[in-house]
Amino acid sequence: MLIFNKTAGVFFKPSRRKIYEVLGSFHFYPGKRFLHKLVLGIETSCDDTAAAVVDEAGNVLGEAIHSQTEVHLKTGGIIPPVAQQLHRENIQRIVQEALSASAVSPRELSAIATTIKPGLALSLGVGLSFSLQLVDQFKKPFIPIHHMEAHALTIRLTNKVEFPFLVLLISGGHCLLALVRGVSDFLLLGKSLDIAPGDMLDKVARRLSLIKHPECSTMSGGKAIEHLAKQGNRLHFDFQPPMQRAKNCDFSFSGLQHVIDKMIMQKEKEEGIEQGHILSSAADIAAAVQHTVACHIAKRTHRAILFCKQRGLLGQSNTVLVVSGGVASNLHIRKALEIVTNATQCTLLCPPPRLCTDNGVMIA
Ligand code: KG4
Ligand code: ZN
Repeated sequence: MLIFNKTAGVFFKPSRRKIYEVLGSFHFYPGKRFLHKLVLGIETSCDDTAAAVVDEAGNVLGEAIHSQTEVHLKTGGIIPPVAQQLHRENIQRIVQEALSASAVSPRELSAIATTIKPGLALSLGVGLSFSLQLVDQFKKPFIPIHHMEAHALTIRLTNKVEFPFLVLLISGGHCLLALVRGVSDFLLLGKSLDIAPGDMLDKVARRLSLIKHPECSTMSGGKAIEHLAKQGNRLHFDFQPPMQRAKNCDFSFSGLQHVIDKMIMQKEKEEGIEQGHILSSAADIAAAVQHTVACHIAKRTHRAILFCKQRGLLGQSNTVLVVSGGVASNLHIRKALEIVTNATQCTLLCPPPRLCTDNGVMIA
């Protein structure tokens, strides 16, 4: 707690008066009694300002989220001070909306849970500082939350999943494979040695100028690649999945991105167009990139499943692989993972899309 207080001092602190003003505007319902303990969860680790109230039975009473994606799409990536400023502008409103939607007053909360790591320091600081003010003001216990652990455990809100299970987190900022043995007992099996798959797909989409494509202008890079891939022929390009000989469960995406960049440059020369214009072969490139990423992710996951089975680290029956994160919404990648889980007698589970990406519910 002391550490958090110390850290929070560096970050943005809304004045006590301002917080009273904000909380004064909540719509409370006096006289109601909650049977369960209530936790307010606050998430600001990257580019989503999110909050939710969840009771101890796992019921989501209310939630709110503000996504910064549109702003970051225009600047071509997340600029940390911009993300920080947007969190500052939205956190009070989002917490207010989550509490109002839940019809819960801050006094009725049993605890406040907030992401403290990992993430962008400037973004994390806004949520942490705001939470600590609430904690101080309403004398509530504070629960520091590890963002990845929250992602990994979210599936237990929607499905009956027993420990141990395997989790694959793939998004713009995450890429890891872990064995979840308990609520805070994780065995890391593999991680990206460089960038995350979503980051790579975003970079390729930017290099292909997909934001200028009439069908993709409002889509994230990964979604744009998936959309265009449906119109392309992946066999027109031959990208090799990375780390085929590496005897571990790690991932790598920046080497592949470099190869793709070189290929795009070559195609621009061949087609006689300048960088910033859309190649006629963009859909074929998207299809080949998506397929190579899917193969890489599936192969590394296959290794992890075999490793765990061989060592007896998973239960004898009903082995579960949970896949989450923004990239997990990609149907081609899911299909590749399904081939792996079918071949290894595992069950593939994905939280619903709104719980796959960053949100307040998983923190609460
Ligand atoms: O989990 P998320 O919303 O945020 C974090 O990164 O924490 O994931 C966003 C990432 C972006 O890189 C985006 O391009 C990617 O997920 N993404 C996709 C798809 N939808 C979003 N990647 C592949 N296929 C998709 N359909
Ligand atoms: Zn996340």
